[in-house]
Amino acid sequence: MSAEIISGTQMRKEILAELEREVVEMKEKYGKGPGLVTILVGENPASISYVTLKVKTALNLGFHEIQDNQAEDISEEDLLALIEKYNNDPDIHGILVQLPLPKHINEDAVITAISPDKDVDGFHPVNLGKMVIGGDQVRYLPCTPAGIQEMIVRSGTETSGAEVVVVGRSNIVGKPISVMMGQKGPGANSTVTMVHTRTQDLASHCKRADILIVAAGVPGLVKPEWIKKGATVIDVGVNRVGVNEETGKAILSGDVDYEEARKVAGKITPVPGGVGPMTITMLMKNTVKSAWWHLGNAK
Ligand code: GUN
Repeated sequence: MSAEIISGTQMRKEILAELEREVVEMKEKYGKGPGLVTILVGENPASISYVTLKVKTALNLGFHEIQDNQAEDISEEDLLALIEKYNNDPDIHGILVQLPLPKHINEDAVITAISPDKDVDGFHPVNLGKMVIGGDQVRYLPCTPAGIQEMIVRSGTETSGAEVVVVGRSNIVGKPISVMMGQKGPGANSTVTMVHTRTQDLASHCKRADILIVAAGVPGLVKPEWIKKGATVIDVGVNRVGVNEETGKAILSGDVDYEEARKVAGKITPVPGGVGPMTITMLMKNTVKSAWWHLGNAK
């Protein structure tokens, strides 16, 4: 039997429809909707395409959206001042500074300059700290891990007591999703193992996983024989493995050998069309959450 496909494209549609209804309700109640500013520094082609998609999604939802593009040579001081302007703008509820930034700008300084109340990326140390504490403290979950958890839950995978193995320990995926799945509460309560490049016998850990989350950035790292029969496999890898000669577009591949893994797994995310579409969706969800909070607390 072939695995059930967990489609991020389909889930994105469902979640965006839910958010669209919330935006209508918010405008009726407060006379305005969520406000998001996307700050893009320079002309990195991948960043331009990500930001363009974020702006388009925000506009389709009826957000007040400001696309603030800045030149590659903006000084760190000027960028910090720009962030401060948006921190104080009551019509803006979410501030997104697209990463990576040019080398002369300290990314940590930029991330910590964003008000934790408007940090819809969930990258600020205050929000990461709240995420680790869990429960009522949680404010904005980082978008990719939030999307992964949402996919696991919406696919009907049982998480309570499940063995979760996370391959990779990055700050934006591996570390946070490991903490989130181990928290007390719905969609979590799992027993988590985080493995990485120094782990001995990666295969033996992966074979135990009821839920295998792979975010290593290595194409085809996880072999089909490492997957437990019936497991839910979430492939976060987006690797450019070639170029389609006809379209000129990049050919993408995940960290899991998808065609073979489908024969063993119970449920699996494809690449593309899996976790990718969920990241921007969760950014929109965080912005709506922020807007409710700000508008409800406005004097
Ligand atoms: N660059 C790549 N992914 C992201 C993301 O999720 N947020 C921001 N701000 N920059 C990114």
